[in-house]
Amino acid sequence: MEDLSTHVQRADWRKEKHVPVIECPDPVAPDREFEVKVSIGKEVAHPNTTEHHIRWISLYFHPEGAKFPVQIGHYAFSAHGESAEGPNQGPVYTGHAVTAVMKTKKPGTLHAMSY
Ligand SMILES: [Fe+2]
Repeated sequence: MEDLSTHVQRADWRKEKHVPVIECPDPVAPDREFEVKVSIGKEVAHPNTTEHHIRWISLYFHPEGAKFPVQIGHYAFSAHGESAEGPNQGPVYTGHAVTAVMKTKKPGTLHAMSY
């Protein structure tokens, strides 16, 4: 039986438009807030239409030596031109990028997923 992880893809964000790009200071000071920007399509533009869009980004931090990552946030992008008049007739499109603010006492690695 397949498990879900077989369908989680990874790729080079410079060539694949669905890969989240994480931008933040590196290194950061311990226990001091910093901003983390996560976006889709930094190098290869991703569509943002009713039929084809990014629904969400989840950001995780895996502290060094920890068994599991910690979810920093889950960011939903809810408007993609939907309207009672039909697809792409609405006036609003949520952009697929987010800036989170976090701090950590431990070093580690940021990860992001998108759907
Ligand atoms: Fe897509």
